[in-house]
Amino acid sequence: MKSPIRVAVTGAAGQIGYSLLFRIASGAMFGPDQPVILQLLEAPIEKAMKALEGVSMELDDCAFPLLKGMVLTDDANVGFKDANWCLLVGAKPRGPGMERADLLKDNGKIFTTQGKIIDAVAADNARVAVVGNPANTNCMIAASHAKRLPADRFTAMVRLDQNRAQTQLAKKAGVDLTTVQNIFIYGNHSPTMFPSFAHATINGKPATSVITDSAWLQGPFCEIVGKRGAAIIAARGASSAASAANALVDHVRSLVTPGAIHSVAVKSNGNYGFDANIWAGMPVKTTTPGSYEVITSYTMDDFAKSKIAATNKELVDERSFVTELLG
Ligand code: NAD
Ligand code: LMR
Repeated sequence: MKSPIRVAVTGAAGQIGYSLLFRIASGAMFGPDQPVILQLLEAPIEKAMKALEGVSMELDDCAFPLLKGMVLTDDANVGFKDANWCLLVGAKPRGPGMERADLLKDNGKIFTTQGKIIDAVAADNARVAVVGNPANTNCMIAASHAKRLPADRFTAMVRLDQNRAQTQLAKKAGVDLTTVQNIFIYGNHSPTMFPSFAHATINGKPATSVITDSAWLQGPFCEIVGKRGAAIIAARGASSAASAANALVDHVRSLVTPGAIHSVAVKSNGNYGFDANIWAGMPVKTTTPGSYEVITSYTMDDFAKSKIAATNKELVDERSFVTELLG
């Protein structure tokens, strides 16, 4: 049996937390032979801590063989202590009529504090995955406060968008979704994100030769994927939770699986025309567990370049909006 890894989860008593923790404890995120200790961090609010206690009781009641311990806390110094993975979910969700960027004022400062504390107390091999919105810019804020942990340890989640895009292409083509591959998300987790259909394949053929309606690909497809979060809020009255938790399981599982190719928002080094020092979605290949390299070989046509320029501009604007929160 491997020794347990420590997985810190913020916002553990929230909606996403309720779908996520049971998947981690069951082995879906780190594998069926990897024990875990869950370090569950909540806001210092009585109601949240009480709810967290209830969630931990349910985790106990599942008798998961891989769950080797739980820490329940409202103190980030305790929650992130020696953590190998820090899953930053805890933040306000948006309501109807809001954009994710509208959350920056409230949520951004959470990531200033947490970035500093993770850098001070987490394990030397710590990896950080940000879900709380706006995820890309919150990730940039947290990473900017890290002096010990390198910036490439900080990733933000665009996997939900990749999963959404894969399903939409499969539905349009009338094929099983497992036949849709190489659909990657570029840029921001916002309506400007670009699902790069030109490189996608369906049953090994270019998706554009199977779905020949290029007006649909350039228009409704990008729009459906980009605005799916808002559509779910409109239908459900609350933001996506189970699918977001599932996407985080996929995000981390792919990051610990050498050879996996998947979309992750990572620090830009200027690839694909993104400004350096913003966190933008792009395709990566996992090298060793927790590490990755950006796949830089895809060529972009004029349409793709214009979409990337728009989502890049939004990320640069978000960065200017939060300069006082950066380390
Ligand atoms: P929620 O309101 O149900 O839960 C959030 C939890 O975070 C609450 O329990 C709250 O007490 C806690 N919290 C707040 N501040 C905290 C802090 N400083 N430390 C620890 N915990 C804290 O919200 P949710 O539906 O679980 O969504 C969480 C976040 O994830 C939101 O910002 C939402 O917009 C975002 N989200 C992102 C994606 C994505 O694809 N990136 C998808 C869905 C949701
Ligand atoms: C999503 O994409 O479903 C989440 O980011 C929640 C939201 O605000 O859209």
